[in-house]
Amino acid sequence: MPGDSMDKPNIVTCTAPVNIAVIKYWGKRNEELILPINSSLSVTLHQDQLKTTTTVATSTSFQEDRIWLNGKEEDITHPRLQSCLREIRRLARKRRNDGDPALDSSALSHKVHICSVNNFPTAAGLASSAAGFACLVYSLARVFGVEGELSGIARQGSGSACRSIYGGFVQWIMGQKDDGQDSLAQQVEPETHWPELRILVLVASAERKPVGSTSGMQTSVQTSSLLKHRAESVVPGRMVEMIEAVRRKNFAAFAELTMKDSNQFHATCLDTYPPIFYLNSVSQQVISLVHRYNRHYGETRLAYTFDAGPNAVVYTLQQHVPEFVQAVQHFFPPESNGGQFIQGLPVDHAALSEELKQAIGLEPMPKGISYVISTKAGPGPRVLEDPTQHLLGSDGLPKKTV
Ligand code: DP6
Repeated sequence: MPGDSMDKPNIVTCTAPVNIAVIKYWGKRNEELILPINSSLSVTLHQDQLKTTTTVATSTSFQEDRIWLNGKEEDITHPRLQSCLREIRRLARKRRNDGDPALDSSALSHKVHICSVNNFPTAAGLASSAAGFACLVYSLARVFGVEGELSGIARQGSGSACRSIYGGFVQWIMGQKDDGQDSLAQQVEPETHWPELRILVLVASAERKPVGSTSGMQTSVQTSSLLKHRAESVVPGRMVEMIEAVRRKNFAAFAELTMKDSNQFHATCLDTYPPIFYLNSVSQQVISLVHRYNRHYGETRLAYTFDAGPNAVVYTLQQHVPEFVQAVQHFFPPESNGGQFIQGLPVDHAALSEELKQAIGLEPMPKGISYVISTKAGPGPRVLEDPTQHLLGSDGLPKKTV
């Protein structure tokens, strides 16, 4: 309970999801406020498979703001962390000054301790900053008693984080204003809208990505005329079509737009000078596999998308998952003792027909994919009510188990 006693910390733990864009965000018009040059749209992944957990505590006894990420203390003066902290404290102060009687404002003068962990490897190249900043902002808001729109604050931590504030299908509307007040995320449809939709994360490499998205997109904005064309003339129409495809659960339309948009994003990376390469030979093999699979069936059953790294994310419908997973296992044979190749939602066994193998006709790439996470669309951030799940102890320091 907030403000129970003077030096017992006021403590909250929340979890937040990863999201994977099907219309990509790439390029800022304002670096500090993190305002994008185009709108984007993503699917929020289920937290049963991928999530960040964050505990935030405030106490009179804390000397300074501190943060621990995945077990290691990090620098709290990082400008993006500071933006989020400053915005939440500003809104809390505003609520107090507006005389909200429900607000316990004692926390406002206290220092904050933050502890955050991912249940997936950060180095796997999954969108950890999106889940991380969404979780940070959601937890801070709870501790400081801030309600209402949070995506505009999460955006200032990492652009894609604003979309992780909501579950299901989420658009980030780029907005027009210079102060960013209208650059916000909005739910298009909830996670229950399209229950057959499945998402497979094909982890191609555990190496860190070569060029981070923040600096990569900066160079693209400065040098790529294709990116300018994309932002001004391609994405606006695609956003309309994508929202329509989602609303109607039109998988073929959804899938084709997803693949084209991923391809165009990577084309803008190649058009950047000097060029940026996120896709590797494993990614290219996944692209071929997907197109040949779809061609064999004369129907678009699979869609790939890639972010700033070589991992593929494949969207498909539940009924196609077992056979596709078999195909992945056939064309990317895993190590025989390599633990669990398929993680997450259980996948039934299926046979792979000779015709399909022949139609795909690729040379297998042993160990090209280290594992696959099978998941679906999921809800937005939530509060964990069970106090045993706090990552910080009553002394305000990370528990030994973290
Ligand atoms: C390729 O949100 O990580 O994943 O705003 O600089 O923190 P910053 O960048 P970030 O960029 C994500 C880029 C992307 C596409 C997307 O998620 O829309």
